[in-house]
Amino acid sequence: MTVSGRFITFEGIDGAGKTTHLDALEQAWRQAGREVVRTREPGGTPLAERLRGLFLHEAMDPLTEALLVFAGRRDHLRTVIEPALARGAWVLCDRFTDATFAYQGGGRGFDLTVLRTLESWVQAGRQPDLTLLFDLPPEVAAERLGAARQPDRFEALDTAFFERVRAGYRARLQQDPARFELIDATGTPQQVAERVHQALTRRGLA
Ligand code: TMP
Repeated sequence: MTVSGRFITFEGIDGAGKTTHLDALEQAWRQAGREVVRTREPGGTPLAERLRGLFLHEAMDPLTEALLVFAGRRDHLRTVIEPALARGAWVLCDRFTDATFAYQGGGRGFDLTVLRTLESWVQAGRQPDLTLLFDLPPEVAAERLGAARQPDRFEALDTAFFERVRAGYRARLQQDPARFELIDATGTPQQVAERVHQALTRRGLA
C-alpha cells in the first residue's frame, strides 16, 4: 500500500493573519501525534531560502520573479514536500503556487499562460490537497500590518495592488473550488480560528 500524507497550503494577502493560524494548527497536530512538516514559500530549502532573499529585496521584472519563485519551488518539492508526503507526513505550507498566480499574475498583471506552463513543468501534476484562503479587504490587512516591521518589496505596495492580488486568488479558487476553503479573515483571531476549525471539520481534518 502506498502511504500518502496531506499537503495543505495557507494563502492570502499580506496581513491576512494566516501565519497565526498555521502556528496553532501545527501545534495541535503535533500534539495529536502526527508528523508535521511546517514549511513556506518562497523558501523551504537552503537554496530556496537564498532565492527568497533575492526575490523579496532586489528589483526585477515579473518574469524574473516567476522564474525565481518556480526555481525555488522545484527544489522545495523535490527535496522536502514530495519525500514528506511519501512517508505519510502532513505538510503545512505558508504560501505556494496560488500566491504566484495572485501576486505575479493578478498583482503584477503577468501572463497567466506562462505561469500555467511553469506550474506544469515544475509540479508535474502535484497540487495541494487543501488550500485555506484567508480573505479580507486590503485596507483592513494594511491596518493590521501597520508599522510593525520594515516592509519587503511586496508589503510596501498600495491597496490597489492588493485588490488585484485578492482578485487573483479568487480567480484561482473559481478554477478549482473543490481544493479551496475560503476563510473570512475579518474579526478577532479567535473568530477566525473558529472558522478555520469549521473548515477543517468539513474536510474531516480537524
Ligand atoms: P510571506 O511574507 O508570506 O513569507 O511572503 C513573502 C511575499 O512574497 C509575500 O508578499 C507574497 C510574495 N510572493 C509572491 O509574490 N509570489 C509567490 O509565488 C510567493 C510564494 C510569494
